[in-house]
Parts: sequence; structure tokens; C-alpha cells
Amino acid sequence: MIGTGSYQPETCLTNQMLEGMVETSDEWIVQRTGIKERRIAIGKSTAEIALPAAQRALEDSGKSPEEIDLIIACTATPDSYTPSLSCVLQGKLGAKNAFAFDVIAACSGFVYAADIADSYIKCGKAKTVLVVCAEVLSRIIDYTDRSTCCIFGDGAAAAVFEAREGEEGILSTYMRSDGSKGEALLAKALPVEDPFSSDREYPSSDRFLKMDGKEVYRFTAKAVPQAIDEVIKQAGVDISEVDWIVPHQANTRIIDMVIRRYGLEREKVFVNLPYYGNTSSASVPLCLDDMRRQGLLKKGQLAIFVGFGGGLTYGSILIRI
Ligand code: COA
Repeated sequence: MIGTGSYQPETCLTNQMLEGMVETSDEWIVQRTGIKERRIAIGKSTAEIALPAAQRALEDSGKSPEEIDLIIACTATPDSYTPSLSCVLQGKLGAKNAFAFDVIAACSGFVYAADIADSYIKCGKAKTVLVVCAEVLSRIIDYTDRSTCCIFGDGAAAAVFEAREGEEGILSTYMRSDGSKGEALLAKALPVEDPFSSDREYPSSDRFLKMDGKEVYRFTAKAVPQAIDEVIKQAGVDISEVDWIVPHQANTRIIDMVIRRYGLEREKVFVNLPYYGNTSSASVPLCLDDMRRQGLLKKGQLAIFVGFGGGLTYGSILIRI
């Protein structure tokens, strides 16, 4: 991983502002989720927030757009089905030697895409891969629904992976899905309908994300430890040797559960959730970029990145920095 970048929209939606929009309180939100504020991309498309994140990651990596072989974009909130977000970015970046496709894996998007990038690199089909995760979730959030509007935020982040000799890089990966529980986190696309009907209106209630919070919580309580256990087992590493655990920023209670289960020092688990909320696929690379910019990631360290969410999907990657 040779470069990272991110973009946080300017508008900040605080818990206090939400108190004026729905029946909630700063105390309830902080206690149940740990979130204090989130960013909202008012009037911006997903591509518009993805592009600066991708450009910053490229700049950080020292690579030119022409050197990118593959662009993988992750989003649950694309601007269009076609062209895909990755193709839009390829055009805007001028990455004329790259092929590009999107991955839909909600909050696991980054770890899924990093696993794909790693596979393309290891089998020799790509040398330099740009992964971009961007979400304008505010488009599908109902700001009268207190059970979801307090949780989600907008953001974009990207990372560049390159084939290199040496000890560093992705050591092991573990990806899983449980589609049988997919309805627990539902964001619908176009409805099933009679294409010849004169009445083809899209029901407005269907445009918003719906979440069964308790079901998702139960799923993560099992999925997150499983993803961590499997990735360290594969690499033959003990949890005590791991320097960083970077979980998808969904909820402090899930993060606290990880800390308790493994008896970790709190400082080993990176958290920026209070400031961005849950930004779905962008959450893990936003952490990664924050950590790199703060100088927290040191050469030779071991870091586990864990994603989990809609699909339901989950997965983890173990990286030697
Ligand atoms: N403010 C105040 N009250 C709220 C509220 C809010 N923002 N959101 C829900 N409530 C209310 C509920 O309506 C319910 O009221 P009732 O008892 O009168 O029906 C009460 O709080 C308890 O709701 P419940 O859903 O049982 O809360 P919870 O303890 O399960 O916490 C979550 C809700 C969403 C914080 C929790 O289920 C959770 O974290 N789930 C995982 C969600 C997640 O991480 N999703 C993303 C994964 S990628």
C-alpha cells in the first residue's frame, strides 16, 4: 500500500443539530453509538467526492494516472448504474491504461476491494491498483427516521496498492457473506414492476435505507471476531503481535466488544467514528488515511482492517506496513 487520500465534505451535522430534526438527544446518540457529528455532501455527487480522494491518494503514492492498471471503486450510493463510479473516475483522472469496475459490498467494500487488488497483483495481472471508496449516504437516509439518520455520514477515501518485493503488504485475507440476513440492512434499487404499465412511479418510501439495528448488531458480534481470528490464524500470527486493529466505524459498542474479547489496549484500536459517523465503504480507508497522516503507522507494524455491514458481508485483511 503506497499511498492514501481522503475527502471529507465541509458540512458538519452535529448531534445538537439532529436534536432539532428528530426526537433524539446527544446523550442517547453518544451512549448508543459513540458518534458526535458526521459530514454531509450537500449538492455533491458521489464522483465529485471520490475524485479528490483518488487524486490525493495518487499524489501520496507518487504515481501518475497513466501508471494505474486497475481502478476498483466501492459505493452503495452510485450516481448511475452505468457508467460505473470507477469508469467515471478513470475518465476524470485520465488513467487511460486502466480497466475499471465497481464492487458493491457496503461497509465491507474496502476490504473486499483490497483483497481483489491483492489477488490481481499476486497473479501478475496488475501492477498498480487504485481502490476508491465513496458514499453520499445522505441521499438514501430519511432525516425523519431517528434510527438511521443519527448513524450514517458521507465521505470518500482511496488507497494505491503496488506490486513490490519485500516483507510489507497484505499477508492474509478472509471474506465472507451471509445473504440470508440481507434484509437487515436494506437499500433498494429500482422496483420490480410491469414494464408496460402506465403507472411506473417509484414509491418514495423505498428510496431510503432501512436497518434492523438489533439484527445487525447480533451479526457483527459474531462476524467481527471471526474475521479477526481467521486472518491471524492464516498468517500464523498471535493477536499480541498485532499493532493495530482498524474496525469499520459503525458503533463504539462493537469496538468495545473487540477490545474486551481480545484484552486489547484501547490505543491499539483506531477510532475516528465520533467525527464522521458510519460512512459505509469509506469508513476503513478514512481511518487508514487519518492514521497515515498522523504518522501512526510505522514500517514493519502489523495492522488488521475489518469490514462488516450490508449484504450482509464481512471480511478482514492483515497488512504488514
Ligand atoms: N434517539 C432516541 N431514541 C432512539 C433513537 C435515537 N436516535 N433511535 C432509536 N431510538 C429508540 C427506539 O425507537 C426504541 O424506542 P422504543 O423502546 O420506545 O421502541 C429505543 O430507542 C431502543 O431502540 P433499540 O433499537 O432497541 O436500540 P438499541 O439499543 O438496539 O440501539 C442501535 C440502536 C442502532 C444503536 C443498535 O441496535 C446498533 O448499534 N446496531 C448496529 C447498527 C450498525 O452498526 N449498523 C451499521 C452496520 S454497517
